[in-house]
Formats: sequence, structure tokens, C-alpha cells
Amino acid sequence: MPALPSPKTIEADLRVCAKGDSSLQTELLTADSAGISRAAEIIKAGGLVAMPTETVYGLAADALNPAAVAKIFKAKGRPQDNPLIVHISEFAEWESLTDSLPQNALLLAKCFWPGSLTVILKKSPRGPGIVSAGLDTVAVRLPAHPVARRLIAAAKTPLAAPSANLSGSPSPTKPEHVINDLSGSIEALIDGGDCAVGVESTVLDLTGEVPTLLRPGGVTAEELRETLGRLEISPAVLDRFSGFPPSPGMKYRHYAPKAALTVIHGSREQYISFLCQNAAPGIFALCYSDTLPFTPCPAVSLGDRGDPRQTASRLFTALRELDRAGAQTIYSEAVEPIGFGLAVANRLLRAAGFRRIIL
Ligand code: TXA
Ligand code: MG
Repeated sequence: MPALPSPKTIEADLRVCAKGDSSLQTELLTADSAGISRAAEIIKAGGLVAMPTETVYGLAADALNPAAVAKIFKAKGRPQDNPLIVHISEFAEWESLTDSLPQNALLLAKCFWPGSLTVILKKSPRGPGIVSAGLDTVAVRLPAHPVARRLIAAAKTPLAAPSANLSGSPSPTKPEHVINDLSGSIEALIDGGDCAVGVESTVLDLTGEVPTLLRPGGVTAEELRETLGRLEISPAVLDRFSGFPPSPGMKYRHYAPKAALTVIHGSREQYISFLCQNAAPGIFALCYSDTLPFTPCPAVSLGDRGDPRQTASRLFTALRELDRAGAQTIYSEAVEPIGFGLAVANRLLRAAGFRRIIL
């Protein structure tokens, strides 16, 4: 099997930290008290800081400063109608964001916060409209990562933070991903190493009659159903959305590598024979480690079959690695959408623009 070019080391990437074409020099901060207090100063002055969270790196700004929040949209090239998640460090802080806390929100907070669950609530008119992109709702999350929480506490304000990638590209799970996408367009990055979960938080809409899962993530649909009793899963989780999306983010191309990705559904044997029939220059495989030795083309591993947590922690890095290796077409093995696998299957299908082949 041809070998992939070895990925660039983080050291090599950090050397090009100030490569952006603006005059901004992105500061690389350490994840300690000194780094966090410098980051808090930048936030208070209306700047942007990429911070580690347990899911993916977030691009943080003072959620109560509309001019600072506007910079997030500009740096990411994010469509103005796609709202941001507001991150808090203490349970009580959500009082500044919403006037009505439904009973089930309190229950969920007790069970899953701090952690990778975002809840959508009715927004207080006091909060700035730009964070919610003009909607009458607000997305709130209390992250588990200690650095993110220390930064929110030090900045003394809730932080608006989407994933710290260029809009549409795979979310950043390593500091070098942030550098690659945003160096020269943001004031600073706190280097907190790799993100443990690897896919973004679960997004749950609590504003309707039945709680609705809009984006699967670290907290699974099964866990939510057990806690809440009732749960709807938006059809847009596993299929291309048509009509009016319940979450604006659903209508945008997401997590996508530059190469054309297609998800192949079938047995492992069928997948291998599909690859054998279609192998050609520029074609790459994205597959489980037990398939890797049998691929007729260059391949990147999704980790162990049946271990969606491992697959999640590798997926976005794998997609970036495939681009760097010059893949033009990627055929990926499908991920079973059960338990945490639903979040991974959702990201893979969205990265593929829901292009799939059923063998
Ligand atoms: O794990 C995460 O959630 C990461 C880290 C940094 O916390 N953040 C993240 O943010 O993934 P972002 O902006 O990349 O994704 C937020 C998603 C988008 O699809 C957006 O459309 C949706 O949440 N969203 C935010 N506010 C919403 C609202 N009020 N109503 C419906 N959807 C909302
Ligand atoms: Mg994102």
C-alpha cells in the first residue's frame, strides 16, 4: 500500500503561526494562569481568542460585545444568519441570557453540565441579537474543559464561540488546525493540546413542545431520551435537509475536505471489493484499522471498528490529512449511527454532502 506523506509536526506548524495576510500577529499562549489572563485581557478589549474545549477548539469573543462578536463572523467567513453558542462557566450565568428556564433544562444541566451539551432556549431581549443571528432563541453551553471555564471566569463575561475553523472546513481538534485556518486573523490561540471528544457538542432545542436533537454529539440521543422521557431527532441529522432548517447551520456545507468524499454502506468485504474496482490515482480510502491492510489505494484510519469515541477523536484530523496528501476522491467506510456513533455518522455524512453509495 502506498504510504501517505507524514503529517507536519506541530512544531513546524507553530513556526508559521504569523502567516496570515493581515498585519495581525496571532499570539500563541500557554494553557496556564499567565496565558489565560493574557487571553482574558484580549477578550475584554474586544479581541478574538481560540480556546480549547473538550469537544473542539472554539473561537471566543465577549458575547455581550456586538462589535467583538461581529469579528468572529468575519474571521471565519461565517454566514451572518448562522447563530453562535454562548459559553458560560457557572450555572447561574444563564440568567443573563434567558428569562425562562424550563424544568427540563435544569434537569439536563444537572445531569450533563459541565459537558458537551448545548441547549437552545428562549432568548432574553437583553442579550445582543448578533450572537443569535436575529433569532428569538439562544444556544447555551457550560463546557467541561478547565481552560475554557477559567478563561470565561477570568474574562468575567459569557463567551460566544463557534468552532475555530474557517467556515465549511473540518472543525479543529488540534492547535495546528486553528493555526492553519486562522493564523493572522485572530489575536491569540491558547495551546491546550488535542481535544478529547473530537466532535462538537450535542445541540438540543428546548423551545418546542418536545425536545428536539438538532446535532448529535458527546451526549447521546439514548442518554437524553432516558433523562427526558421524550426526544425527537431532527431528520436533518442523517439526511440532506430540504425546506426550512430548524437550525441555520444545517443548510451550510460543513466539515468538508477539499476532496470529494463519498460514504460507502455495505459489509467490509463489499467495501474492499468496491475499492479494488475503483482504485486509481487520486483515490484514497478512509476506513477502519482492520480494513487498512487490504486497501488497494492510500488510506487513512478511522481507528477501531466499534469504537466510535476513537473514530470521533480522529475524524477531523483524518479529513485534513487526506487533503494534505492530495486526495481528489475519498471513499469512506460507513459508521453505524448507534449511540455515540450517531454523532460520528452525522459528521461523516455532512462532510460528504450526504453523498453515499449503498452496496
Ligand atoms: O462543541 C461545540 O459546540 C463547539 C465548541 C467550541 O463549544 N462549538 C460549535 O459551534 O460547534 P458552531 O458555531 O460551530 O456550531 C453551533 C451550531 C450551528 O450549527 C448553529 O446553527 C447552531 O449550533 N445554533 C446556534 N444557536 C442556535 C439557535 N439559537 N437555534 C438553532 N441553532 C443554533
Ligand atoms: Mg462549526
